[in-house]
Amino acid sequence: MPTGLDQWQALTTLAADPALPALSKMVAAPYPQLLCSAAGISADFRKQRINGAVLDALLALAERCELESARAAMVTGALLNNTEQRAVLHTAARASAADLARRFPQRQDIQNAVLDSRRALATFTEDVRSGRWRGIDGRAIECVVNIGIGGSHLGPELAVAALAAQGADSLEVRFLSNIDGDNAQRVLAGLNPATTLFVIASKSFGTQETAANARAARSWFLERTGSVAGIERHFVAVTNNIEAAAAFGIPSANLFAMGDWIGGRYSLWSAVGLAVALAIGWQRFAALLEGAAAMDTHFLETPLQDNLPVLMALCGIWNTNFLGCDSHAVLPYDDRLRLLPDYLQQLEMESNGKRTRKDGTPVTAATGPMLWGGRGTNGQHAFHQLLHQGTRAYSADFVLCTRPDHSLADHHRLLAANAMAQSQAMAVGRDHDDPHRAVPGNHPSTTLLLEAMTPATFGALLALYEHKVFCQGVIWHINSFDQWGVELGKDLAKPIEAALAGAAPIAQGEPQDAATQGLIDLFLGR
Ligand code: F6P
Repeated sequence: MPTGLDQWQALTTLAADPALPALSKMVAAPYPQLLCSAAGISADFRKQRINGAVLDALLALAERCELESARAAMVTGALLNNTEQRAVLHTAARASAADLARRFPQRQDIQNAVLDSRRALATFTEDVRSGRWRGIDGRAIECVVNIGIGGSHLGPELAVAALAAQGADSLEVRFLSNIDGDNAQRVLAGLNPATTLFVIASKSFGTQETAANARAARSWFLERTGSVAGIERHFVAVTNNIEAAAAFGIPSANLFAMGDWIGGRYSLWSAVGLAVALAIGWQRFAALLEGAAAMDTHFLETPLQDNLPVLMALCGIWNTNFLGCDSHAVLPYDDRLRLLPDYLQQLEMESNGKRTRKDGTPVTAATGPMLWGGRGTNGQHAFHQLLHQGTRAYSADFVLCTRPDHSLADHHRLLAANAMAQSQAMAVGRDHDDPHRAVPGNHPSTTLLLEAMTPATFGALLALYEHKVFCQGVIWHINSFDQWGVELGKDLAKPIEAALAGAAPIAQGEPQDAATQGLIDLFLGR
């Protein structure tokens, strides 16, 4: 019961203390421990409304919630996903062979699954990129279409956007996720079936959107080539459901397995990363895994007070539970990270958008905040108005690279200056005689500085957020690894779809309400 703990009460008292200085005061002499670096990333927490007393109290809460033993349990395969009785081993998917042997001395099956998968991905990636893998008419693959949604889409598309430009010889990679037929038509437009490879990525191989898009892609291919035999040169699958993928017609040689111990939103490091490896090459994909593993090592081995993911998680707990922030803005000041807010929306909100504790009792405090965001500087000319003068309490993350990969030095200086000015304005605000021009400030933010956008720092960045989410879940006593809340909508869509197809009312016995039936009638023009 975190809210019943003495450590929780101590934080409540600190937050309510009128002597807790405003951020505008705190930034004048920030607490020195609010700066932390690991794996090529520096986190500057000096614009958090945290002083020594608050930090000590947050660390005491983390200790009381047994964060240290929880992190060790996660990486060694404890069944932390208690509602599905599953381990959560995304860290294994990026661990070195030596770390795997150390963490799983008795589990040769896990060691083999990870290393075999990695070898298969490396070989296939090199075959496709070198042109050894040929399409039906003997030509090399020129475009890869990743068909998948949620965790089978967001991480791979973000990684390709962040890193693909570094591969001069990279294949074109497109992403098809949405059930909207417009998405399928747009993604398939202009493609040559003889030089296109479809990667169907679905842990369950039962997701409605992915199944519909995979069928559409197969029909598109067959209509244009008439070659059923060609499927084996142009379709591969990444899945935990080998039988369903085989039933779809994917030959066993084209199946890349993933364990059920990797959650969808944590799966970039597994075979789900295939589209990324194809885009950036195996060496750079391996570097991405190593960067994430370096963040894992930091997370596992560093005391809580110097631990980057732990500090980031504690800032979030302080802001959400004690300072009343109910939304969190992610503001990448790097165009290559423009998809980071989308990715983090799934990672954070599907993981920690929970109202029931692991033991089945209701939570008694706020859990994950609404996460949203957009790239800087574009947001400054749009939603930042609300950030500076709106009425909502929020927190923010700025993400910026120290070194750019382009030659426009002026641009980079302007970009960085704007990021710093925005966090300053949020913290300090501005007094003004004219109330329309006054800016209250006192909004906490963290700035993450990446040395450069390399596969390794990018991998470390995503691992950092994964561990932050994990730590918060431990403190809130929730299961960060299930997602039962998304099931209701899936169930309700089935009878509605049947009603739309048959033009009949929703069948008796199915959940129904007059408002939804009215909407169906309106849609059908009845
Ligand atoms: O419906 C939610 C969800 O299960 C996500 O957790 C997951 O990432 C996504 O759907 C896609 O699932 P799959 O990879 O099984 O197709």
